[in-house]
Amino acid sequence: MALSPATVSLRLKPLTTTTLRFLSTYHNNLKTFPTTHAPKRAHSFNHLTNSSYRNVRYFSVSAVSTGETLETSKTDKIGEFKKRLRVVDIKGGESEGLDSLGQVLTVRGWVRTLRVQSSVTFIEVNDGSCLSNMQCVIDSDAEGYDQVESGLITTGASVCVEGLVVPSQGKKQKIELKIQKLVTIGKSDPSFPIQKKKVTREFLRSKAHLRPRTNTFGAVARVRNALAYATHKFFQENGFVWVASPIITASDCEGAGEQFCVTTLIPSSKEAMDSPADAIPKTENGLIDWSQDFFEKPAFLTVSGQLNGETYATALTDVYTFGPTFRAENSNTSRHLAEFWMIEPELAFADLNDDMACATAYLQYVVKHVLENCKEDMDFFNNWIEKGIIDRLSDVVEKSFVRMTYTDAVELLLKSKKKFEFPVKWGCDLQSEHERYITEEAYNGCPVIITDYPKDIKAFYMRLNDDGKTVAAMDMLVPRVGELIGGSQREERLDYLENRIDELKLSKESLWWYLDLRRYGTVPHAGFGLGFERLVQFATGIDNIRDTIPFPRAPGSAEF
Ligand code: 4AD
Ligand code: MG
Repeated sequence: MALSPATVSLRLKPLTTTTLRFLSTYHNNLKTFPTTHAPKRAHSFNHLTNSSYRNVRYFSVSAVSTGETLETSKTDKIGEFKKRLRVVDIKGGESEGLDSLGQVLTVRGWVRTLRVQSSVTFIEVNDGSCLSNMQCVIDSDAEGYDQVESGLITTGASVCVEGLVVPSQGKKQKIELKIQKLVTIGKSDPSFPIQKKKVTREFLRSKAHLRPRTNTFGAVARVRNALAYATHKFFQENGFVWVASPIITASDCEGAGEQFCVTTLIPSSKEAMDSPADAIPKTENGLIDWSQDFFEKPAFLTVSGQLNGETYATALTDVYTFGPTFRAENSNTSRHLAEFWMIEPELAFADLNDDMACATAYLQYVVKHVLENCKEDMDFFNNWIEKGIIDRLSDVVEKSFVRMTYTDAVELLLKSKKKFEFPVKWGCDLQSEHERYITEEAYNGCPVIITDYPKDIKAFYMRLNDDGKTVAAMDMLVPRVGELIGGSQREERLDYLENRIDELKLSKESLWWYLDLRRYGTVPHAGFGLGFERLVQFATGIDNIRDTIPFPRAPGSAEF
């Protein structure tokens, strides 16, 4: 058992400058902004005229993290686009909006709450750009006040408010908008199901089309987005090429037979409801006649893009996939989905150590990114979802991960004298309760990478170790979630791979192209898969995986 240095990457050389560069589109009027900083926003806001509440101003986005100076000459201007002012543009900066005092601004969003007091009325407007609402104050002189009186302004309604930025008396915010003009864009029926009273996450799952309008689901969506952005950023900065692996496939990468079939033998859409069961064409032996199917053989939704990823790694060296994957396992747990997104890097000229170094560096990078870039949302999770999550994640970024072999892990579990539901012995698959004990209790919340699993509980493509019993596999376990990452060094020796395929009674014929990679210039290579929704769970503290993806797909559940 050894501690791995947190940031050691055997193959990955950190680049000195960020290679990702976001071209900023400065409007001519804004050229005076220093080019090394993102312009916080244009201070010369156009006053709105009565005739045009959609009056927008030119706005430029700059996400340059390199400190490089961007020339904004006409030739490298990619295109300007118009942008509405968002609440985050007003309140997101260090002054929390104080530098906008005295300006007349326009905000569009949805009403969260309405508080009518004797002299004034408070309307909280949220546009999803950040957790904070824009607190708007309206009195009876303002244009459009009649909409408050007539009850048009209710929770859920969409509005456009124009007003003066003034200091706020309340403690929760530094500024508020004193409304000069209020326009209802879309009224909200009184049946709007997400009212102020606390609603459970189970209830919100049944309202998945409206739940992004809550604080929790808005914050999850933004952090999920930041994790996806950081994922691409990490791999792009380290020279990986993003590869689109197919969603429909005829191979079963993991060999677990948990695939959804894709077929046109069953009539599609409307007809399917009234289709007799014996309409499926059969062979003389009474089997399904797949030759009449769309792909002329059984085809499935992919469980993993790995095998396709390997083909590109053995040409481009370092690649990654990031796309949806599907598993028809009947697991009604808080960690399983039938449709989830997976990130699968594949590294050529690499072994298991390189793989673990990459996984460690990747996880630390994306966690650091959300801690630095999603402060308001992370504070919200820290206060309301999982107390202490910020400290826990900061530790992940700063501390080394534990590494141990499967054999040592089994010994540790046996020594723990803990009563597990699934008894432990060498050769058994580690269950969630075992994984969580190791990372949560034995190592006090530190991620643990377990290596060298018995070959019989792992997939056919993993490289056989010299002991003949174990394979060069690695799983990364994290608190609350258990297995976050599963990976391995791949079997690059043709004869070993063919033997393994035979032992497992898999079809060499259908894997002919995969075997070709070992025939033509084979190299040691390794990779891993990370379940993106489990990463969102890990980074937000959200208990149930069904709350980390906009529209969860699970057994018996495909609404929306
Ligand atoms: O461990 P798995 O099955 O590994 C593979 O699919 C390999 N082909 C990956 C590779 O080496 N390229 O899945 C990888 C990860 C798991 O560690 C877990 O985080 C996630 O995918 N995962 C699921 N996430 C949500 N719902 C499910 N049903 C999942 N099954 C796996
Ligand atoms: Mg696994």
